[in-house]
Amino acid sequence: MLSPDQLIVEFDRGLRAIFGASQSARPTPGDNLPEAELSDDDRRDAAALMRVNHCGEVCAQALYQGQALASENPDLRRALADAAREEEDHLAWTARRIGELGGRTSLLNPLWYTGALAIGLVAGKAGDAWNLGFLKETEHQVEAHLQGHLDRLTAKDRRTRAIVEQMKVDEAGHASTAAQLGARELPLPVKVAMKLAAKVMTTVSYRV
Ligand SMILES: [Fe+2]
Ligand SMILES: [Fe+2]
Repeated sequence: MLSPDQLIVEFDRGLRAIFGASQSARPTPGDNLPEAELSDDDRRDAAALMRVNHCGEVCAQALYQGQALASENPDLRRALADAAREEEDHLAWTARRIGELGGRTSLLNPLWYTGALAIGLVAGKAGDAWNLGFLKETEHQVEAHLQGHLDRLTAKDRRTRAIVEQMKVDEAGHASTAAQLGARELPLPVKVAMKLAAKVMTTVSYRV
């Protein structure tokens, strides 16, 4: 069980995730690149895609927190905390880019956060191997999703692309950490259910 101090830290992290006040430890990728002349459509689309990614990172914070709170294994909790730290960079980078593109973060972030926290707690209670399996599958799905954004974003928008590219590298790293720690392969129906849940979140947060 976490101590009261740790609980306060986790609570604070959750609030910062929801309200877009996360700080990045690493510089924003592509920060030195010039801003491109984007058409209104490209700019709107990029802002909406980054809103989806920001929302995904809010969910990642909640999932990791839920999983860490529910797990008794200190190694696993440390790995989750390390990954969550990188996800906080992703939160800060995406929020910043949304602002540069003239967009806004999802109004439903508190709702996504709460749902993901509940899912994380369930995964955490399922035992370490399943917990890690869930983490690995999540990261794989996010990686594929980010590749989809790279295929869709205009080549001109190098600042957005640089962020998405670094996030994709980080997510792949989180997946391989989970594999090294002993992730179990999830049953196909679970993977499909996760994809469906992600589809709902990405479709809604593209708009709201
Ligand atoms: Fe991330
Ligand atoms: Fe990740």
